[in-house]
Amino acid sequence: MKILGIETSCDETSIAVLEVKNNKIGVLSNIVSSQIKIHAPYGGVVPSLAAREHEKNLKPVLEEALKKSKTDMAKIDLIAVTVGPGLEIALWNGVNFAKTLSYIWGRAIVGINHLEAHIYSNWLSLKDKNKIFPALNLIVSGGHTQLVLMTNHGKFKILGETLDDAAGEAFDKVARMMNLGFPGGPVISKLAEKGNPEKYSLPRPMLNQKNYNFSFSGLKTAVLYLLKEIYVITSDSILKRKLKIQQDVAASFQKAVVDVLVAKTIRAAKEYKVKSVLLSGGVSANNLLRKTLKDETKKLKLFYSQPNLEYTGDNAAMTAAVGYYKFKNKRFKKSDAGQLIVDANLPVKNW
Ligand code: KG4
Ligand code: ZN
Repeated sequence: MKILGIETSCDETSIAVLEVKNNKIGVLSNIVSSQIKIHAPYGGVVPSLAAREHEKNLKPVLEEALKKSKTDMAKIDLIAVTVGPGLEIALWNGVNFAKTLSYIWGRAIVGINHLEAHIYSNWLSLKDKNKIFPALNLIVSGGHTQLVLMTNHGKFKILGETLDDAAGEAFDKVARMMNLGFPGGPVISKLAEKGNPEKYSLPRPMLNQKNYNFSFSGLKTAVLYLLKEIYVITSDSILKRKLKIQQDVAASFQKAVVDVLVAKTIRAAKEYKVKSVLLSGGVSANNLLRKTLKDETKKLKLFYSQPNLEYTGDNAAMTAAVGYYKFKNKRFKKSDAGQLIVDANLPVKNW
């Protein structure tokens, strides 16, 4: 069967075509049109601009996705579209587009949770599907940071989440403090590669608390105070040493975030006696996080999976993957299409 995925929850317009044969998922196309350049001058995503761009991009992105997959709409069996969480007006762009396609082509449409889609980005490259459940998911994106226990397809339990900033948001805010532009994750992690993570001592918020919640706003404020202090003390030579300082601050900050994320994940993995640990979300592109979590899960002999780099950020292939499993498990009705609505705060939910 062929599934068309549509994703417009934030600042990427993405459409993908998946083909599933004998339970094997193949990505025929996964087109992502990024709006980063449009939002960068504002230091974050501007919802009205995002909606305008989705409106403009959806049709050409669909055409490209179909062309690349050598498919046409007549061969699509199912449409999967993100319904939340995300920016409300941006979500409506995708949902209305999906509904129009569904009416014209008479195809079933299924609403997808964006966080579940991040989880399922792992299924796009999973080698051994039998070693997974119970699985512990660490979802780290620009809007969310959650530990989610998954006992089977569509069976989730949120163990903990951030009480304030998401991990990606902390990367973005620290980058903004250093005038490094938006989004912050890629530029901070690049700087961190050449920095000394032990140079500055930063807090590891909630590391020793016995729950699975996170908090990154205190760490972000600690970085702000650190920057102010460095700039005052070293004002004379600041220009000469600026790059080195940025590298060390980036490395120290990144290490603090990764330490907390990995320690809490490993503790939860032990407590819930899971078989596997799955990483996902935009921050899962972070090299230090990927390497550290891989090493730590290996010590516990747990199966570990992380999305291929092309599927770490927002994309429609992962959306379509959830669509397939909902279809396989008969978790929606064809008649649901008309009632499909968006929910900007949609939590991970059982299906
Ligand atoms: O999942 P995503 O693409 O969008 C949301 O659903 O939020 O995540 C975007 C977030 C941004 O905050 C971005 O700074 C962060 O992922 N990010 C990274 C890296 N690449 C992207 N954070 C840390 N290290 C990276 N290499
Ligand atoms: Zn996302």
